[in-house]
Amino acid sequence: MKISIIGTGYVGLCTGAGFASLGHEVICVDISQEKVDMINSGKPPIYEKGLEEMLKQCIKNKTIKATTDLGYAVLNSQVSFIAVGTPSEKDGSIDLNYIKQVSADIGKAIKKKNGHIIVVKSTVLPETTGSVVIPLLEKNSAKRAGSDFGVCMNPEFLREGMALEDFLHPDRIVIGEYDKESGDVLEKLYKDFKAPILRSDLKTAEMIKYASNSFLATKVSFINEIGNICKRLGIDVYDVAKGMAYDKRISPLFLQAGCGFGGSCFKKDLMALISKAVELNYEARILNSAIETNSLQPMKIIELLEKRLKDLKNKNIAVLGLAFKPETDDIRDTPAIDIIRALLEKGAVINAYDPKAEENMRKIFPDINYCEDAGKALKDSDACLILTEWQEFKNLSDKDFDAMREKIVIEGRKVLNPDMVTDFEGICW
Ligand SMILES: NC(=O)c1ccc[n+]([C@@H]2O[C@H](COP(=O)([O-])OP(=O)(O)OC[C@H]3O[C@@H](n4cnc5c(N)ncnc54)[C@H](O)[C@@H]3O)[C@@H](O)[C@H]2O)c1
Repeated sequence: MKISIIGTGYVGLCTGAGFASLGHEVICVDISQEKVDMINSGKPPIYEKGLEEMLKQCIKNKTIKATTDLGYAVLNSQVSFIAVGTPSEKDGSIDLNYIKQVSADIGKAIKKKNGHIIVVKSTVLPETTGSVVIPLLEKNSAKRAGSDFGVCMNPEFLREGMALEDFLHPDRIVIGEYDKESGDVLEKLYKDFKAPILRSDLKTAEMIKYASNSFLATKVSFINEIGNICKRLGIDVYDVAKGMAYDKRISPLFLQAGCGFGGSCFKKDLMALISKAVELNYEARILNSAIETNSLQPMKIIELLEKRLKDLKNKNIAVLGLAFKPETDDIRDTPAIDIIRALLEKGAVINAYDPKAEENMRKIFPDINYCEDAGKALKDSDACLILTEWQEFKNLSDKDFDAMREKIVIEGRKVLNPDMVTDFEGICW
């Protein structure tokens, strides 16, 4: 099938490369000429495991190309996926400017064309596709949804760091449809994916995405809260989580206590759903608590540090891990930002290391020290904070920590081998 993907960030590029790897002809569109040039030269503008190899192969097979020309991409494809960002406004509500712009542009592009299918893949609040996207498409094309063009909402559930694996082997595929014919085309596109396909109306599909992210974020805040109580009781929350995880109703996933969730989605999506609830005259107490618990969590690591070091002024702190999770360079809403900011306010000197996220973090903190490897960050440090569970940190040994001035290691993620001699403490274990 000929597919265009509008917006080639984490979701758009992984979706585009994923479809192209299956032999579909994909045209990626972005407003950034730099990103388009990088994609065409086989270099992904983001880091995602396996993406570079996949992209290079697809370019060689001529199944993917990128352009800034949305009109060209729409006219040369049968289906257009919208995958632009849906960030938060200052008050937490959803910013739909990118969605509106793209909807209007696609509308203009389909003026001379019938039968095009537009699929919203970006995360948008219930009723958005129906009340914002479709009216803009209709207004700008002077055509009717459902008869002159088709519309679906197909939320994305991929996890950064596992995005290609998740795209190719999803747990489920949700197809919200305005018109049955478009739903049928989309179901055909996904027919070789071994996953249940759920078909629904547009707003149910939109809500499935928000409910899923809200549930997962709440599960993380829940286990962090249990962890904070365990810490006071001298109990390792990971032993507790293991005992809970045998229960099929609970499952072991998202039960890893730590310094809080980050990433571009959880907080943004929770806040958007909370503000939608307010609009509907409903107070979402559980969702508000999940966010509040999460916002307090990173500071617990500072409390532990101050208990050990007292005054942080001029203390050398090794910060290992900046990305919000391993196997990504994404630092959006990573707990490391709040933690570094607090350390700087207290006068600490920061020696940071992350295998992939340094370049992105430099844009926020240009003046902290970035080290080539974990060993250099640890050297002569007064304490070490581990904030991302990168595999290479799991391989650190007592010898690596011997170069520290004081061997104080506080884990925000459970990474280190419990048999190590080095004295370390977990944020809530
Ligand atoms: N990142 C994730 O893990 C993830 C997972 C599931 C769903 N989502 C959702 O998917 C959507 C995209 O997220 P993302 O993380 O990929 O965003 P992103 O910010 O990484 O990428 C968005 C891209 O859209 C481009 N863009 C903006 N306006 C454009 C326009 N008018 N025409 C063409 N391109 C334009 C930007 O230049 C950027 O490259 C969001 O709604 C997000 O909530 C994200």
